[in-house]
Amino acid sequence: MANPAAPADATGPQAERPEIEFHDIPFQGIIEQSLAGVYLVFDERFQYVNSTFAEMFGYTQKEFVGTSIVDLVLPDFLGEAMKNYRLRVYEGVASIRYFTRCRHRDGHVVHIEVHGSRVDYRGHPALAGVVIDVTERVRRDQDLQRSRRRLRELASYLNSAREELRSQLARELHDVLGGMLSSIKLDVFRIQRRTSDPALAEIREITEELLPLVQDTIDTVRQISDELRPGMLDTLGLVATIRSELEAFGRRNEIPVGFTVEGGEPDLSVETATQCFRVLQEALTNIGRHAEAETVEVRVRSRDGCFEMQVRDDGKGIDRPSMREGSIGMLSMAERARSIGGSLYVHARAGGGTVVLLAVPGHSGRRSNDRAADRR
Ligand SMILES: Nc1ncnc2c1ncn2[C@@H]1O[C@H](COP(=O)(O)OP(=O)(O)O)[C@@H](O)[C@H]1O
Ligand SMILES: [Mg+2]
Repeated sequence: MANPAAPADATGPQAERPEIEFHDIPFQGIIEQSLAGVYLVFDERFQYVNSTFAEMFGYTQKEFVGTSIVDLVLPDFLGEAMKNYRLRVYEGVASIRYFTRCRHRDGHVVHIEVHGSRVDYRGHPALAGVVIDVTERVRRDQDLQRSRRRLRELASYLNSAREELRSQLARELHDVLGGMLSSIKLDVFRIQRRTSDPALAEIREITEELLPLVQDTIDTVRQISDELRPGMLDTLGLVATIRSELEAFGRRNEIPVGFTVEGGEPDLSVETATQCFRVLQEALTNIGRHAEAETVEVRVRSRDGCFEMQVRDDGKGIDRPSMREGSIGMLSMAERARSIGGSLYVHARAGGGTVVLLAVPGHSGRRSNDRAADRR
């Protein structure tokens, strides 16, 4: 492109070109072809609009002349539009850029971005500027936000439905099946006690084999019930449950684990404690599955009613570009955090590895071990 500010002593074709005079520029043609709407407002009324501006609202240029800002801008946004108008025309603010909403001739709402400045019009202060129709962009943003919200609601629904089902199953297994098995065990004992007669040696042998089998079944049921929803959360509280889960993780994966506690048991409701525990479980599962870590450290801290949990590994770190599309572990952790009014941060550690940080604000609800108190 030619440089209009070429130095006087420049040589070549640019040097011979005369300097462009402002009045030589065919502004009117440019403005008429502009893809942005262009307007001039004096005394709150449109004195001029280009065809793009007029068409944006379903009118002809001629129809626009003389109409007022009040006729165009939606009532809810008129206050701001008039304030911005006055600030520039009467109060010396040079230019303002803002978003507003107008009514199209056919009734639909047109979202616009306006950038206008104070100008001199026939010796009076007026306003001139450009307008861009951003309706499509706003709709797309709203659609995106709506689907994000739906996705969050769905994740939240799935989490709570899953949690409810797990709790229910855990209770049935523990109370009903566990209770029945205990009765069976007692009955086998009773049978055994009646087999001192040598003639019943065979039955005694059967009961001796049966008893450890029943005990194993009782233990398995308790274990499954605990995996579904750790009863420890209700009895010993969140910190002890985290410790026990972490230690079990270390044993299973044969990696050293570290646990630090600051501030003791947090004051959290049962639901909140359960969600925190689920976040820990997912973070640990991810470490076991993806991190190739050599050590894992969990730090929990309760301070001023807030609870913080950090799950730190020294593994290979999250490779964001290769993250599977549709993986819901992260989404689910974030949603669990959100559902209890907290936040989840996942970031890379300086020396390699990943930190999952859950921060939960103070809660006045029941503590996670209050249920134990209720039962007493
Ligand atoms: N601690 C971690 N270390 C390394 N990569 C991780 C870690 N946690 C998560 N990732 C990566 O993030 C991805 C998404 O995790 P997630 O949403 O839980 O899905 P999933 O575990 O089902 O793959 C994983 O596939 C993995 O690539
Ligand atoms: Mg996962």
